[in-house]
Amino acid sequence: MKKKLSSLDLQKMKNEGEKAAWITSYDYWTANFAEQAGIDMILVGDSLGMCIYGYEGTIPVTMDQCIYHSEGVRRGASKTFIVGDMPFLSYQVSVEDAVRNAGRFYKEAGVDAIKLEGGKRVCPQIKAITDGGMLVMGHIGLTPQSSGQQGGFKAQGRTAETANQLIEDAKAIQEAGAFALLVEAVPPEVCKIIKDTLKIPVYSIGAGVDADGQLMICSDVLGIFQAFTPKFVKKYENLGEKTIKAFTEYINDTKNKRFPEDKHTYKMVEGELEKLK
Ligand code: KIV
Repeated sequence: MKKKLSSLDLQKMKNEGEKAAWITSYDYWTANFAEQAGIDMILVGDSLGMCIYGYEGTIPVTMDQCIYHSEGVRRGASKTFIVGDMPFLSYQVSVEDAVRNAGRFYKEAGVDAIKLEGGKRVCPQIKAITDGGMLVMGHIGLTPQSSGQQGGFKAQGRTAETANQLIEDAKAIQEAGAFALLVEAVPPEVCKIIKDTLKIPVYSIGAGVDADGQLMICSDVLGIFQAFTPKFVKKYENLGEKTIKAFTEYINDTKNKRFPEDKHTYKMVEGELEKLK
């Protein structure tokens, strides 16, 4: 029987060089399949805006949407460490907002931690949420909620100057009390420096193999998301094509009366059909 990991277990994994594998999930089913597969951790990412709702980015995603999806994920993966992702404007306006909204994830969805984007500028929020007794994961590098300021969905930290800024942000996030840090779309060498500098676990999405673990978007891993494919994605399946094939066969079977077959129908109780006639 699988034991749910704690932040201490995740820290121990880093200390012992064991990589953590985690994935996003937005619903009961994928969470349940991920748990059955033995995933270490699940992020209910605000990427649900694109992967579930078909938005062009994460900006329109609301707290309520994140809570609903986190609830389903919690039910599907009751023995997995779950991180709720704070959506745009749930923590940027004030420290009070940040604590209250982080608390909603805990109270309403039963998450184990929350994640928020940004470096030094969100350290007051990280400290306040941590002081409120909750676990915070930082997120630096490509930060989709501020991708406008970053010039789009672009790799970050590719010059010495910007890499140094990331390293300083990472140190500040640890100092503010975060239990872990996610680094997105950054050269592996920079992520390795961050991982070697910080005591807390440093995870990668598109930041190389040296991090303490890897995160992937479930819709990318499964080949469901078709709008675009970032360089760092490895598709392990092509469920998009398989789904279209299954739907096409069902449509054709229905139109050609190959479905339903006899085995898919209910029989009347013996002798009752004659009475009906
Ligand atoms: O929302 C999300 O899934 C994320 C990942 C892109 C890191 O924050």
